[in-house]
Amino acid sequence: TQRVFSGVQPTGGLTLGNYLGAVKRFVELQERDWETIYCVVDLHAVTVTWPGREKMAAATRELAAAFIACGLDPKRSILFNQSQVPAHTQLAWVFNCVARLGWANRMTQFKDKAGKNAEKASIGLYTYPALMAADILAYQATHVPVGEDQKQHLEFARDIAAKFNLDFDALDFFPLPEPLIEGAATRVMSLRDGTKKMSKSDPSDMSRINLTDDADTIARKIRKAKTDPEPLPETLEGLEERPEARNLVNIYAALAEVTPGAVMAEHGGQPFSAFKPALADLAVEKLSHIGTKMSELMADPAEIDRILGDGADRAAAIAEPVLDKTYELLGFIRSR
Ligand code: TYM
Repeated sequence: TQRVFSGVQPTGGLTLGNYLGAVKRFVELQERDWETIYCVVDLHAVTVTWPGREKMAAATRELAAAFIACGLDPKRSILFNQSQVPAHTQLAWVFNCVARLGWANRMTQFKDKAGKNAEKASIGLYTYPALMAADILAYQATHVPVGEDQKQHLEFARDIAAKFNLDFDALDFFPLPEPLIEGAATRVMSLRDGTKKMSKSDPSDMSRINLTDDADTIARKIRKAKTDPEPLPETLEGLEERPEARNLVNIYAALAEVTPGAVMAEHGGQPFSAFKPALADLAVEKLSHIGTKMSELMADPAEIDRILGDGADRAAAIAEPVLDKTYELLGFIRSR
């Protein structure tokens, strides 16, 4: 069977990038009747700073609410927060001993997040990809929907699976997880700079659309998005040297669930004074109800906690036997 796993960090607010690159696709995979497991990765969210007790809890519930508001059904998918299933960290330790320093040293996200003074970065940030591999492999997941920026971490997870299987003569005990990086929006760019990824950590709120933005805010951010002065080209090829224009076309395509080519067939040659209002209408139509639904869900935090707890029970039922088998392969005695 195909088993899908993916995770999102509860680091405050989902962006349009997270939505189009990940969560929207989580929902599509759920509709395909694959076994789907989605995780609020709270343990990953403390690698850079302590968000603080209240913020951490609030961000976890907000992300769970966002998942559900986007269409994840906690009955059909397993939805839980990572720290409630200890197998993740237990397996991560084993994987810390599988992965090599050289592999970790190549991780570009560590370099970006650690900045110039890497001596001050936490060790957790450094070994983060081993925990991410554990998230996936604890479920023996076969497919992992992510945005482009997670590709290198997925390769790390595949390397761990392959080396573990080899070291322990365990054939294909851990499947090599397949990244699913598909569609028009695997890398949504900033609305202020078409060469930078849209991100929650960008200081300018105008650079991103948040799933909690209301209709007016969404429309205003699109109207104000940076573009060049030329109208849209007639063809897809004409977008090549125009990162801002290309980004808006990709966003349109992903929201409308058509190809960028189809967007160009309809809108090619239009000035931005015509294309932006069309995109703004589409974005408001597709996104503004999500924020409304999220507020409704967040009015009942106890219910969100109940859903996460139920998901964690179901997740643990899959992950614990995998951990047991892993420990058995290592020769760890389990006599209690
Ligand atoms: P995170 O929380 O940074 O992002 C969550 C998902 O959103 C995607 N994404 C984007 N996609 C397109 N355009 C963008 N601008 C954009 N920004 C973010 C990310 O690629 C990701 O799919 N390490 C992961 C979380 C994680 C995980 C896992 C993922 C932990 N364990 C196991 C998969 C499997 C992260 O930090 O994603």
